[in-house]
Order: sequence, then C-alpha cells, then structure tokens
Amino acid sequence: MPLLEIRNLKVEFDTAKGPFKALDGIDYTVDAGEVLAIVGESGSGKSVAMLATMGLLPDSATITADKMEFEGRDLRTLSAKERRKVIGKDISMIFQEPIASLNPCFTVGFQLGETLKVHTDLNGRQRKERVLELLRAVGIPDPEGRLGAFPHQMSGGQCQRVMIAMAIACQPKLLIADEPTTALDVTIQKQILDLLVKLQQDSGMGLIMITHDMGVVAETADRVIVQYKGRKMEEADVLSLFENPQHSYTRALLSALPENATGDRLPTVSDYAEAGGFQ
Ligand SMILES: Nc1ncnc2c1ncn2[C@@H]1O[C@H](COP(=O)(O)OP(=O)(O)O)[C@@H](O)[C@H]1O
Ligand SMILES: [Mg+2]
Repeated sequence: MPLLEIRNLKVEFDTAKGPFKALDGIDYTVDAGEVLAIVGESGSGKSVAMLATMGLLPDSATITADKMEFEGRDLRTLSAKERRKVIGKDISMIFQEPIASLNPCFTVGFQLGETLKVHTDLNGRQRKERVLELLRAVGIPDPEGRLGAFPHQMSGGQCQRVMIAMAIACQPKLLIADEPTTALDVTIQKQILDLLVKLQQDSGMGLIMITHDMGVVAETADRVIVQYKGRKMEEADVLSLFENPQHSYTRALLSALPENATGDRLPTVSDYAEAGGFQ
C-alpha cells in the first residue's frame, strides 16, 4: 500500500471571473521512504494539489477525487479529531513562504514548543530537550542561545531551518516541501536541500519535493511528476526522465538547466511555449 495515494484529483476555484480549473485530474502516489518531485512552472497547480491533500484550500475550492488515501485511510472522511492526528503530525508541510509561516510575535523556542505541545504528550522539560535536539538537527548554531530569538532576528536561511525543524518535530511519515529553497541565496539553497535529503534518509520518511528547478530534482528525487497547467505531462523515475524525457515540456525544463545552455542566453520554458511547444 502506498503511503499516499491520490487518484484523479481535480480542483476548481470559484472566482469573480467564473470557475477556474486549477487541477484537471492528476494521480499522485508516494511510498514510504520515497522522494517524489513535483516539477512545473509557476501556476501549474503544484501548491494547490498539496494544499488540497492537506485540506487547507479555501471554501472557494471544489475538490473531487476518486481516491485520497493516507496509509489506506480516506483523507476526505476523517473526523476533525482524526484529521488533527494526521495533518500536521503524520503529514507535515514546509510552506512556500517561510517567513509568513513563522509567527513574528513569538520566539523560535516557543513556536517549536507549541508544535510539540499540540501533537505529543511530552512534558515541559522533555519539550525543551526536543526543541534543542531539533535545532541541532537542522544545523542552527548555538541552539540554547537561539531559543529566545524572534524570527526577524534570524536570516532567511536560519528561518527556513526553523521551519524544517517545525515540520519534522513530530516525526512525520510524509513531509511535503513546497519550493523550500526558492526564497534563499544559491549557496544557502544547496545547504537546505542537503539538509532535507539527510533528514529524509535518516528518518525514512516519504518526501514530496515541489520545485520548478530540474537541478533540485536531480539532487533529491527518486521519481518525478512533471506538471503543466493542472495536468500531468509525464511521470518517470529520475534517471529515465533525465536520460529520455518523453515530453517536449520536460525537454524544455531540462534545457533550461545551466549545463544544457547553448547560446549566450539561457532558454526559458516560455521560449518553448511561444514556439508552440506543449500540445
Ligand atoms: N485561492 C485561489 N483562488 C483562485 N485561484 C487560485 C487560488 N489558489 C491558486 N489559484 C490558481 O491556481 C493555479 C495553480 O496555482 P498554484 O498551485 O499555486 O501553482 P504553483 O504552485 O504550481 O505555482 C494558479 O493559476 C493560481 O492562480
Ligand atoms: Mg506553488
């Protein structure tokens, strides 16, 4: 049984301009210990798909699917109590906007402690120990000293490490990382990716890595789903995808990698779209 199994997921938003189909029937499966990359340009429905899975889309979204199961349990019919046990604990997510997801009014130590308070039976002393252990695990120097720090007193990279600590605090079985390095400097991006891969390998959790960057896919993924305008263009294991991309859109993404550049300018995905690329 896959860890996560979603069949024929559709999401439609009710907007001022009428209904908008953000996802048009995509399957996603992830096994325990597997790293699935979902790749596609901005607006292709990567975040919407995962927010639908987490049950975090606004009421303007109509979600339908033939199947939405986590460990064989139907995510759509969970009671509020069961949902709290699964979402945020067994499945956790690192959101695209790291700074926005940390509360500016509370210290890092407090926010991590609260996550543990909600989802575990640890007492105060045990929670503090676990918070320190988590800060160490994500490579925050001087964890004791950082407990009392507010998010604005930390760099973007450090905040992202704290977000990761928060996401892994309750030892999730599945971690969804939504473009976890987009907001960071290139050198920091590499460190954060390495950290995520290490945490994934150490814990054996499933990981969904959302990205628009094929470089990130190459560094992290076992299997890849290529998504474009709410549809799946291609799905393959990472080696097959890089060696033998089936779809012109995948080839466009691959040729946008710096090492595949030919001219004096990097080709972009929109070059291919303009050339009549992805029918
Ligand atoms: N709450 C919403 N209401 C209306 N449209 C939305 C909403 N959230 C996302 N969308 C639209 O759905 C599409 C997919 O968005 P998203 O999943 O965020 O893309 P990605 O993460 O691949 O960049 C986009 O066109 C976006 O504008
Ligand atoms: Mg997104």
